[in-house]
Amino acid sequence: MCGIFGCVLHDGSQAAPLIHAALKRLEYRGYDSVGEVTIDGDKLTVKKDSGRLEEVHAKYDLDDLPGPVGVGHTRWATHGRPVYENSHPLVDCKSRIAVVHNGIIQNYLDIKRELESKGHHFQSRTDTEVVPHLVEDYLTQGMSLEEAFRKTVNRLEGAYAIVLTSTEQPKTILCARQESPLVLGIGEGEYYCGSDFAAFLPLTRKAVLLDEGEMAVLNPNGARILKLKNAAPVKRDPITITWDPESAKKQGFKHFMLKEIHEQAQSLRDALRTEQLYYDQFAKKIIEADKMFIVACGTSYHAGLVGSLALAKLAGINARVVVASEFSEEALDLVGPKSVILAISQSGETMDTLNAVRDARAKGATILSVLNVLGSTLMRLSTVYIDQNAGPEIGVASTKAFTSQIAVLLRLASTVGRRKGEVSAKEITELEAELHRVPALIQTILNTKIDEIRRIAEECDAASSICFLGRGVNVPTALEGRLKLLELSYVPAIAYPAGESKHGFIALIEEGFPVIFVAPKDETHKRIIGNIMEMKARGARVISIIEEGDEEIRNLSDRVVEIGESLPSLVTPLVYVVPMQLLAYYLSVIKGHDPDYPRNLAKSVTVE
Ligand code: G6P
Repeated sequence: MCGIFGCVLHDGSQAAPLIHAALKRLEYRGYDSVGEVTIDGDKLTVKKDSGRLEEVHAKYDLDDLPGPVGVGHTRWATHGRPVYENSHPLVDCKSRIAVVHNGIIQNYLDIKRELESKGHHFQSRTDTEVVPHLVEDYLTQGMSLEEAFRKTVNRLEGAYAIVLTSTEQPKTILCARQESPLVLGIGEGEYYCGSDFAAFLPLTRKAVLLDEGEMAVLNPNGARILKLKNAAPVKRDPITITWDPESAKKQGFKHFMLKEIHEQAQSLRDALRTEQLYYDQFAKKIIEADKMFIVACGTSYHAGLVGSLALAKLAGINARVVVASEFSEEALDLVGPKSVILAISQSGETMDTLNAVRDARAKGATILSVLNVLGSTLMRLSTVYIDQNAGPEIGVASTKAFTSQIAVLLRLASTVGRRKGEVSAKEITELEAELHRVPALIQTILNTKIDEIRRIAEECDAASSICFLGRGVNVPTALEGRLKLLELSYVPAIAYPAGESKHGFIALIEEGFPVIFVAPKDETHKRIIGNIMEMKARGARVISIIEEGDEEIRNLSDRVVEIGESLPSLVTPLVYVVPMQLLAYYLSVIKGHDPDYPRNLAKSVTVE
């Protein structure tokens, strides 16, 4: 997730200060590097570097770029670490075309090889850089800039919002989108594009939405939209944005957490896009290792529990999951040069996780990591890493990072399984196909279940405690449901493997005690029904998250949240956790707390 802003202003105006101000509003979308380009007649000037906006500005004075046309970018690195060369804009060989991009171009390696063989010289390790070079290539074949851009974008596979400026047409900005967001702003003879309304809200409240598979041409004559496929013109009336600037950043959601819960359909698609070669590198190291440990904290630890179970089931790998702060006590003595440590950390900066990794490195272990922040300390300590591609997560309570971590870990487990031949190729292919169904399933929950879940939250408001129970791969889901609920609502919550609950927890049950069951129709179904009956018999108020049409559990429950389709067991945590995220969110709001900034907690815990 990156932030983009572009503008075409009146002659004599200066775009740079406007771009700077817009990037400030977009910084929440990414902040590991920043860059601007402006066009002044036949002069294209780029200023960019790694670091946050104000650091880069202090170094280069972004505001003195000349010209009325320009584009800015604040980056959340996906391909290529956040260093100068990989910062956007990226230019062609002759520095006549500059491009910024948000998203992932999956087939960039093929295009890059093709262009390199034609003599194009690449300066970065980004996927984005293929765009200016490919446009340049088409220009040399005699195409117009607009046609060259359209043809280029049509060759890209993946998710993108792309904005291009060029000295070829100094008063024009071209932009296009597929999956990643991009909106147009209509001013008084001035035109803007941005990743969201926040980018241009102080400049205009008139906006035009760009649909998937469309491009737009902005110049002093207006904003023209056309279909990428066949250049057919599209007529679309502007809408008026009534949001205040703060809610524009949250895209109309009341809190970042709610926005991030809703982003999960997209962030999962992005997580599933990571190239297979990274998984193959991980798998090789895991298969060669004599021992494997997974270390993480908080929500990432819960993702690790799912990962460990998946590695056992799909690949016969015994990966011990250790809470990072306990690693030196619990596991370090067992670590040696043939060990593999898989560290999972959204921020890549959690001190306990870093300490565990450093200790293991000192003993010669190989460090693999799953992280969401390229350039983080964990990335630098890792032998190999996989990027979750979830984009910045601002809500302190982790949501989209959790689901994308699980998606990465399931793909990893299936890759190891495939290489080891533990599970049939057919089974693994099926699981991978099911993973791709998850974003749509999550979207359905978000579209249809919110009112129901809010009602359940209202009914839980008076509870002095709430318990979460699950079995198998959904023990970690229950743990995560409980963590979300207690950290946001401050209600003491409990989570257990459902079968273990009769060894203690059951003593707490009295009339009306809310017990939430994570109960998909998988191989644990029969046994969890037994657990539900045990709780019900003692007066618990049973709330079950079930597969649609599961009459057996529905009849035993006081409330159910139904999940649309049947899924393989290993994939269920990805979907079944969403109602629990929403429950925690709404209970927090009902109680008058701020779910984005729960008391005493920090997004990134950089102390031991
Ligand atoms: C803090 C955050 C949690 C997060 C945990 C681990 O406790 O509040 O949301 O899960 O740290 O963070 P990491 O960045 O290492 O995944």
